[in-house]
Amino acid sequence: MSIPVIMDCDPGHDDAIALVLAVASPELELLAVTTSAGNQTIEKTTLNARKVLSFLGSKVPVARGAPRPLFRDLIIAPQVHGESGLDGPALPEPTLPESPLSAVELMAKVLRESDRKVTLVPTAALTNVATLLMTHPELKEKIERICLMGGSAVGGNWTAAAEFNILVDPEAAHIVFNAGLPVVMCGLDVTHKALVTRADVERFRSIRKRTAIMVAELLDFFKKFHEAQFDFAGSPLHDPCPIAFLVDPTLFTWKKAHVDVECRGRHSIGATVVDYKGGQGREMNVDVVLGIDRLRFIDLIDAALRRLD
Ligand code: BDR
Ligand code: CA
Repeated sequence: MSIPVIMDCDPGHDDAIALVLAVASPELELLAVTTSAGNQTIEKTTLNARKVLSFLGSKVPVARGAPRPLFRDLIIAPQVHGESGLDGPALPEPTLPESPLSAVELMAKVLRESDRKVTLVPTAALTNVATLLMTHPELKEKIERICLMGGSAVGGNWTAAAEFNILVDPEAAHIVFNAGLPVVMCGLDVTHKALVTRADVERFRSIRKRTAIMVAELLDFFKKFHEAQFDFAGSPLHDPCPIAFLVDPTLFTWKKAHVDVECRGRHSIGATVVDYKGGQGREMNVDVVLGIDRLRFIDLIDAALRRLD
């Protein structure tokens, strides 16, 4: 039986590839997509989500999320994702409409109407998810778990301590990690190992199908930042990790921990504080994903691309 999921994302190159993987995976049933501000403004990430899903021929409802974090000014990442938030491939204007509901209203409606528990997959700042949990606490029982991209056990990518998605809205992340729900944290510990190399990109392009070519073009742009800034052997495919985790958890290794979020530290704001011992009765609320079989992960994406036109 497929896993019902709602994705909350800020496309964003790696978010876009996560959407492709979700749409192409029969193991998942994508019930809704909601958008977050982060990689770009909410106008741009919502347009990009609609463009990608329209390109894929998906009819999933798409709703716009909050324009800014709960208490802070928005941080955006044009240096990674370009002015549009999805620079690279020339995607046509979307045919998929934007829902008249807000992101939180759509998530609440889908949860309320589902006869099965739903997995939330946030791959952006946690503003919408935190607002959902605060305004509809009765719907927590309809959430199976939260399988997210964000945080890290060791070190950040936007500051020395913080990963981008958590840094954008640390208070929202604090609410989500303390909601009493099971969380799977695909942070930088694993996503910096989920690398796509130049050779992998050429392998995708050689599939010669329109979606595979579009993904290769996304990665052509995405690699510019990572080759200039980091010493990686490729680009980290952050956001496809939680989707791949749901499709095939045997690709990954993880460890239980208590995780909380630093909301005040001058140098450490946005850090996820990971405690594997869970001393003093602290709840081991999070599966911290640490390892990945990179080659099988790339095979999973390759197989997904072959299933699409
Ligand atoms: C995360 O930040 C965003 O820029 C990416 O889309 C990903 O979700 C990586 O830190
Ligand atoms: Ca993202």
